[in-house]
Amino acid sequence: MKVLVAGSGGREHTISWRLAQSAKVTEVICVPGNGGTEYEAKCRNVNPKDDPALENLSFVEAVTKIAQNEKVEFAVIGPEDPLAEGIADSLWNAGIPTVGPKAKGAALEASKDLSKVFMQKYGVACADSQTFTDKAEALAYVQKKGAPIVIKADGLAAGKGVVVAKTLEEALKAVEDLMGGQVGSAGDKLVIEEYLQGVEISVLAAVSVTEESAANGKACIKAFLPARDHKRLMDGAQGPNTGGMGAVCPLSDVTAETMAAFDKDILQPTLKGLVAEKMDYRGFIFFGLMITKNGPKALEYNVRLGDPETQAVLPMMDFDFADLCQAIMNGTLNEFEMKWKSGFQVAPVAVSGGYPASYPKGKVITYDDAKISAAGAKVFIAGAIKDRRAATPTQITSGGRVLACSAHGDTFDEAWKKAYEALEGVKFEGMFYRKDIGLPGAAESN
Ligand code: AMP
Ligand code: GLY
Repeated sequence: MKVLVAGSGGREHTISWRLAQSAKVTEVICVPGNGGTEYEAKCRNVNPKDDPALENLSFVEAVTKIAQNEKVEFAVIGPEDPLAEGIADSLWNAGIPTVGPKAKGAALEASKDLSKVFMQKYGVACADSQTFTDKAEALAYVQKKGAPIVIKADGLAAGKGVVVAKTLEEALKAVEDLMGGQVGSAGDKLVIEEYLQGVEISVLAAVSVTEESAANGKACIKAFLPARDHKRLMDGAQGPNTGGMGAVCPLSDVTAETMAAFDKDILQPTLKGLVAEKMDYRGFIFFGLMITKNGPKALEYNVRLGDPETQAVLPMMDFDFADLCQAIMNGTLNEFEMKWKSGFQVAPVAVSGGYPASYPKGKVITYDDAKISAAGAKVFIAGAIKDRRAATPTQITSGGRVLACSAHGDTFDEAWKKAYEALEGVKFEGMFYRKDIGLPGAAESN
């Protein structure tokens, strides 16, 4: 069967690669895909910008058209923006089964206020918070509560909408900035939240909730192995925040007790809420968690897989990803057995020099294939495209986060060594990466 993957990042390369490994999948249409899916077996990039019949359509419209034209069996949506814009609604309406929540479910990520209301209503363990639309009231609340305190813009703000304020001054400035237009209308409403102390992890999960499955008791949520992103630019969790400098899966510092508490206090209450709210949620959900001394607390929901967590989690799967997608869509996730490889996966990310500030593009990437295959590593492309001018297959950088080098090992140390050995075989001008992904002291904590 033919399937479609929407998106152009490292997460989407990984999803496409996993789908292509299924014996049932003949072709993966990547819209628009990137320089990784360009050269991936069974994958074909279709860029709406290259087609005069599609170039003036919105992304949602273009993906729907392509899915129909190509007669795909189903679509998997990578990023949150098109989900919030109703891409799953559009595709289901056009008769294309889709992995990804409809717009109502996607609002759990698109509005922090809505997600907090949801968490509080259904007893999901999370930080205490209050929501404000009035600046004077928000400032008065911050004055009363004092620092540390966390100020969050309600809307999607491309990672720029959260300020963890250590001092009262910083907190007051964050309210002024976020409500003053720094993140546009995303900051018209603020969620002001209790500061949680602990270490962060990410848990991705598959969700299959429809009115029908809610009624027949088959509504289901199944968590993947826990993972961790490393968001700061520099070793030791120092420097500016980025889109993610590397991921590991699973986590030896997360106990079975913590995961049991996560299941009871966060995962199951979330499922209860999705059912009670009559969501049509067939897709993935990402829990950003703080492991505090009082147990795990939900920091946020994302309505998609994490990036770069996906690059470490999906290679650990010992089952057919296309089968999982179908179980999510047809309401049989409750019968689906998720088997996992033993060992660990480590996936450091290489970025363009200068990132997350300005950085050059168009740098040629070279590979020492012998080195990379000796390590058994897989390179997932995030920000690179095919060099159309080159006579031989060549990728050039096109983004800040360029690629992740993901490797497996029976032990964490083995996986770590292989990932970094392979990364030494990848070169582009200005390339930079953290040397401590997954090591003690590398995780974000406070
Ligand atoms: P969010 O987009 O809500 O995940 O927030 C971005 C980052 O801010 C998280 O990854 C945490 O590092 C931090 N953060 C968010 N909420 C809190 C909180 N209540 N206490 C401490 N840190 C937080
Ligand atoms: N790795 C964090 C995210 O995908 O939002």
